[in-house]
Amino acid sequence: MHISFRLLAALLLITTTGVAHAQGHAEAKLKQVDWPFDGVFGTFDKPAIQRGFQVYREVCSACHSLKRVPFRRLTDVGFSEAEVKSLAASYTMTDGPNDMGEMYERPGRPSDYFPKPYPNDNAARAANNGALPPDQSLLIKSRPDGANYIYSLLTSYGHEVPEGMSIPEGAHYNPIMPGGVIKMAPPLSDDSVTYEDGTSATLDQEARDLVQFLQWAAEPEMMERKSMGIHVMLFLAAMTCFFYVVKKRIWSDLH
Ligand code: HEC
Repeated sequence: MHISFRLLAALLLITTTGVAHAQGHAEAKLKQVDWPFDGVFGTFDKPAIQRGFQVYREVCSACHSLKRVPFRRLTDVGFSEAEVKSLAASYTMTDGPNDMGEMYERPGRPSDYFPKPYPNDNAARAANNGALPPDQSLLIKSRPDGANYIYSLLTSYGHEVPEGMSIPEGAHYNPIMPGGVIKMAPPLSDDSVTYEDGTSATLDQEARDLVQFLQWAAEPEMMERKSMGIHVMLFLAAMTCFFYVVKKRIWSDLH
């Protein structure tokens, strides 16, 4: 019985801790936030994700693409079909080639992906002092402790540059960025957006909402995965009890 419990505990640990915590030591410096999506029973806070989307759309999308997210997926976080349709239509997409072999422009459709801010990586670098703004679809997963990393990065501009460190032209000091130098100007400040739901748009609030949006964008099926995990654990626990009873029965017959 002890062994089965240990096995269960180990399995539980594996499913709950996930990969993010297993990587690197960078997280020592990071601010730690209690995210609603953390833990086995974690959930998505849809109003926060909607606000975070507004931050992405009005601020980050000027430089960062979001290649893997089609407009229609926004219905998962509480936007109506009509809202998604009109949002998509507000973008102009290049499509084609048509019968004449020419590319043409048309209004966006819900099945389209967010348009890229730059036609290619070189154009993106040229516009950003040689640095490439990374695609944001999986950004949160590509950094150790990604949610806390991005939150900390966005809220750690404006510190005094340490003595002896020189910041090149067009770059900024940010102690969270590995090396301390980032070629992204502080993208957020208080009131960078005016929230449609009336929430006060402090820098801290904007950063939190944006992170929740990016977490959802990177793993929209998180809730299903977690509830599946819980079901599997319940099933394993039930099976453990069942086999324990069966084993007892069998051995009591033999004795
Ligand atoms: C004016 C263009 C611009 C805007 C607007 C912008 N970024 Fe960036 N971002 C960049 C560039 C350029 C880099 C690459 C910086 C580097 O490598 O030094 C970058 C890098 C990043 C990184 C990666 C840092 C790392 O670990 O490598 C994150 C995270 C990030 N941006 C988040 C955001 C968020 C969130 C927003 C919106 C609130 C935003 N950015 C808005 C230009 C921009």
